[in-house]
Amino acid sequence: MTDLVVRRLLVDMQAPIARHWCAGDAFRTALFNALSMSFPVGEQFFIDSVRDGFKALPPEKQERFRAEVQGFIGQEATHRRLHGLYNGHLASLGLVNDWEPRARERLKLMEGVDVKHWLAITAANEHFTAILADWMLHNADLLGTDDPRLATLWLWHSAEESEHKSTAFDLYRAVGGNHAWRITWFRRVTMIFLTDTLRQTVSNLRHDGTLWRWSTWKSGASYLFGKRGLVRQTFRPWKDYLRRDFHPSQHDSSASQRWLREHQHQFVPVGA
Ligand SMILES: [Fe+2]
Ligand SMILES: [Fe+2]
Repeated sequence: MTDLVVRRLLVDMQAPIARHWCAGDAFRTALFNALSMSFPVGEQFFIDSVRDGFKALPPEKQERFRAEVQGFIGQEATHRRLHGLYNGHLASLGLVNDWEPRARERLKLMEGVDVKHWLAITAANEHFTAILADWMLHNADLLGTDDPRLATLWLWHSAEESEHKSTAFDLYRAVGGNHAWRITWFRRVTMIFLTDTLRQTVSNLRHDGTLWRWSTWKSGASYLFGKRGLVRQTFRPWKDYLRRDFHPSQHDSSASQRWLREHQHQFVPVGA
C-alpha cells in the first residue's frame, strides 16, 4: 500500500508562459506543451477508472485501497487543474489543442465498457507516465532555467506520477484483470500515445512557425535518440511491462523520493 500525499504546489500559474520556455528550444518546448495538452482529459479518465474500479471491489477488498485511491484522485485532480491553467496560456500563444477533442471522441467508445478495460488502459498510461517521469527526474537540467516555475511543475508532477505508479495496476489485478488484456491494451495505448504525441508536437511547431527549421529537428533527434535521449533511455523500462511477472514497484522510485524530500519548500501538503 502506498501513502499518497496530495500537495498544493506553490507556483504562480497566472503569469504567462514564454513561447520557448524550455531553454529556448523550440522542439523540447513543443513536446512538453503537447504532453501538457493531453493531461486534463487523460487524468480525468484515470480518476474515473480508479474511482469506478474501487467501487467495483467487494467491501472486504475496498479497505486496502481506500486511502490510496483517495490520494491518487487528489494528486491527479491537482495535476489536471494546474495543467488546465498551463494550457490556457498555450492557447493565448496561438497553439491549438487537437489532442483533447480526439481523445474525447475515442473515450465515447468506452461508455458502458467493463471497468477492467478502463483500468487496463489507465494502468498502461500510468506506466508510460511513470517511465517518462523517472527519465525527467534524472534529466531535470534539460528543462532549462528560463522558467523555474514550469521546471518545478514538471518535476513535481513527475515525482507524484512515480509515487502513484502502482495504484491503477494493483486495482486492475484486484478487480480480476488478466495478463492478456493488460498486454493488449498496453500495445494499443503505446501506438495511440506515440501517434498523438507526435501529431500534437508537429502541430505546436507548425503554429509556432518553427516546424521547418533545421535546428528544430536537430534538437529533436538528440533529445529523443541521443545518449540521454528519451526513447533510448525509456525503451527498456517500457518493455518490462510486457513481462508476466512485472509490477511497477520493481522500478526504482528513489529519484521521486529525493525530489520530494529536497523540495519541501515548494509545496504544502493538503489536509496535513
Ligand atoms: Fe498526473
Ligand atoms: Fe498518474
